[in-house]
Amino acid sequence: MFITFEGIEGSGKSTQRQLLSDYLTRQGIDHVLTQEPGGTELGVHLRQLSRDSRLTTNRSELFLFAADRTEHVHQVIAPAIAAGRWVICDRYIDSTYAYQYGGRQHSESDIRAIIELTQAVEPDLTFFLDVSVDEGLRRASKRGALDRFEHETHDFHERVRRAYRACVHMHAHRFIAIDAENRSPDTIFTDIKQHILERKAGCI
Ligand code: TMP
Repeated sequence: MFITFEGIEGSGKSTQRQLLSDYLTRQGIDHVLTQEPGGTELGVHLRQLSRDSRLTTNRSELFLFAADRTEHVHQVIAPAIAAGRWVICDRYIDSTYAYQYGGRQHSESDIRAIIELTQAVEPDLTFFLDVSVDEGLRRASKRGALDRFEHETHDFHERVRRAYRACVHMHAHRFIAIDAENRSPDTIFTDIKQHILERKAGCI
């Protein structure tokens, strides 16, 4: 299975991806735990560049994410899937839709075209961890210094969240929205595990 986690800043993706990876390890399920941007050696540099304050256009930022994804799909995701391994990825194509279309307000057709160009494989399951912008940014600021995206306006993050919610409807066959506002990580993970087990049973 190819599973992705999506959400605004501070939605708890990193915690949930780790809980899932630990669970799969205990179940003896061979898997790759990865992320975007930064899922390859080159991607680590691209991640740094995407946060560089010297970037002056949203368009070049978009191309950095596209380059990171193309390398990631080619080097990591497609080979793992071909080898029968599970792939767990923190952020993927829906981040580009939510942040570059929703947040940065590139045209929807440009964003769809870019996603297509990266030859991204579609995930089997995508968990959208939904938290309010106030709560997400509060958690993100507690983690330490805010990055370029976390510094964006409240309105920017509301647009990102709205675009994610649109994804839940557009890609209902793979998207699952999880209420991540006032629930413990363990309770959230119980939900996630249940959805995965149901999906897995449906595949057998
Ligand atoms: P994070 O992985 O620490 O959450 O940070 C990655 C940042 O990059 C996050 O603010 C969202 C942003 N991003 C995009 O804007 N577009 C993308 O396609 C991806 C993968 C990430």
